Amino acid sequence: MNAAPGTASALSSASPFEAGLALDGFDAPVSETAGSVPAARDTAGAVLRIEGVSLAFGGVAALVDVDLEVAPREIRAVIGPNGAGKSSLINVVSGLYRPDRGRVLLAGESFAPVPTARLARLGVARTFQNLALFKGLSVIDNVVMGLTQTVRSSFLGQIFGSPRARRDEAETRARAEAIVEFLHLTAVRDKPAGTLPYGLQKRVELARALVARPKLLLLDEPLAGMTVTEKRELSGYIRNARDTYGTSIVLIEHDIGVVMGLSDRVAVLDYGRKIADGTPDEVRRDQAVIDAYLGVAHDDEAPGNVRGGV
Ligand SMILES: Nc1ncnc2c1ncn2[C@@H]1O[C@H](COP(=O)(O)OP(=O)(O)OP(=O)(O)O)[C@@H](O)[C@H]1O
Ligand SMILES: [Mg+2]
Repeated sequence: MNAAPGTASALSSASPFEAGLALDGFDAPVSETAGSVPAARDTAGAVLRIEGVSLAFGGVAALVDVDLEVAPREIRAVIGPNGAGKSSLINVVSGLYRPDRGRVLLAGESFAPVPTARLARLGVARTFQNLALFKGLSVIDNVVMGLTQTVRSSFLGQIFGSPRARRDEAETRARAEAIVEFLHLTAVRDKPAGTLPYGLQKRVELARALVARPKLLLLDEPLAGMTVTEKRELSGYIRNARDTYGTSIVLIEHDIGVVMGLSDRVAVLDYGRKIADGTPDEVRRDQAVIDAYLGVAHDDEAPGNVRGGV
């Protein structure tokens, strides 16, 4: 588990929700659509629906009967203290973990577990909590990797350069170049990803996840370890991705200020259970959330023991 940067500042504030970053005035490019497009709340047309998902590791309950629904074009934050089950939830949706109970509905199909091999074709992409780039490969080649699962030509066709494979290759390159431009990575496109500053590497990860134009993007702490400026930039790009491509986004993030400024709805996990779900305003006033974040003692904890992570 990574300790989240910003933990101390969030907890030292009177309320964790007052420690926020203002998200206006981004340096990031402005999308063609004017301002942010609010998410549709058509529950029938949810891009992702999680129903009654439970998952345990030995005696540890990572997820307990969790429901979650993500609407088209929605930025849906999932927050909670360290070990609350946030990554586990994304790992269930991306098929890395098999739920003990419950199901995941993607693109109208029901899964338990979700088939990882079909993930790209189901329109789902993700980033990982820890950087997962090919450090020796250039930025553009890393981004191209995000498309390898969607290419349709056969392996032999690619080796022997069939017309289909050549078309796929050209299309892949063009899409990768477009996303590199969209995320303002052109100046570093040929640099080995591992040589870039951390904040830029996280942006390359976002590019690699976005290049397949997923309907649903799962971001596990995309802003962790970043400076305030880097956070503002990447938050702007995340919002632009939603506005420009209509991507629905599940965002796990510890920086409450970013979460409140960026997301349409926020789900709060604590010890694997969803304890609150609503708009940022609703959630910030929720007593159970305030208790979980400010460390009101749980039965198994000493009184006054502050739980870290936010
Ligand atoms: N592969 C695993 N094997 C064993 N236990 C696991 C595994 N993955 C998660 N867990 C446990 O499940 C619980 C939830 O972990 P998870 O990583 O989902 O939390 P999180 O909310 O993402 O935490 P963080 O904010 O620290 O990233 C924790 O108690 C963790 O130790
Ligand atoms: Mg995690």
